Amino acid sequence: MKILITGAGGQIGHDLIGALVAAGHHVVSTDLAPRPPSHAHAGGDWQRLDVTDAAAVQHMFTDERPELVYHLAAILSASGEANPRLAYDVNQTGTWNVLEAARRAKVKRLMFTSSIAVFGPPPSGPLPDPCPDDVALHPGTMYGATKVSGELLCSYYRKRYDIDCRGVRFPGLISAAMPGGGSSDYALFMYVDAVRKGSYEAFARADTRIPLMYMPDGVRALLELAFAEREKLSRTIYNIAAFSPRADEIATSVRRAIPDAQFTYVPDPVRQGILDSWPKAIDDAAARRDWSWKPSYTLDAMTDDLVPRVRRMLDLGAVLSH
Ligand code: SER
Repeated sequence: MKILITGAGGQIGHDLIGALVAAGHHVVSTDLAPRPPSHAHAGGDWQRLDVTDAAAVQHMFTDERPELVYHLAAILSASGEANPRLAYDVNQTGTWNVLEAARRAKVKRLMFTSSIAVFGPPPSGPLPDPCPDDVALHPGTMYGATKVSGELLCSYYRKRYDIDCRGVRFPGLISAAMPGGGSSDYALFMYVDAVRKGSYEAFARADTRIPLMYMPDGVRALLELAFAEREKLSRTIYNIAAFSPRADEIATSVRRAIPDAQFTYVPDPVRQGILDSWPKAIDDAAARRDWSWKPSYTLDAMTDDLVPRVRRMLDLGAVLSH
């Protein structure tokens, strides 16, 4: 299949491109920036694309005629609070531009990456734990608000124009690739800084608990949902879940591989506020029922696989910023 990815230079693209190429697809990766050195292994074509530029998105889709689009381009929650206007432009206008271009270029299927950030405590009380698909959505961030809108637009384009839009609400994703501007980044930096410095000062409290997932499961979800039989899908967007450890439980798991690692917790008010607004755990019964979704990594299984990968990434000289 010919597959186009937006925002391919990010953390998900790093693993998704390779998985699609390995499965035999013709992948056109697009991003604002040139292919980062960290993505050199992934294969496929790479083209510059700014999703906020409607004409450029339209040209790209008309020229390339992809059969399936993975729309990953987004500004994440913490960066979005630092620059709400940019988050609106990329996440809201960018998603509109991508859906419109998909409609005009007669793209058959579009995969949207939503997030646990669509949830937030409703005025009537706390979120259910675990949190099901169909609760009232009260996101507290610009990122979350634009992801809710993206979900609704996907449903609209599905009904109105018969573009087969599908999507998952990702937990915080952890992988040996640099995340950019997410509130869940503390979880990955517990591994990265344990490897490179032997210690990490987390910007979240020790008892912070949010849904997390190891990237190989996340990428598998993106492939399995994209290629599931349409008749089996009762929804446009699905909750998916893996594990929900407290930050200090992640610390215990990291110490399986790095016994002397030290962790301290100094909450950053903005990011802690965002983390506290998200569900503690997710109910993914619909995904399990409709397309047989099942995560394969537990927290400890992720730790065992991830630590050597983080070591390799740091040996290769990854540029770290957080
Ligand atoms: N990982 C994302 C963030 O922290 C949530 O989707 O913004």
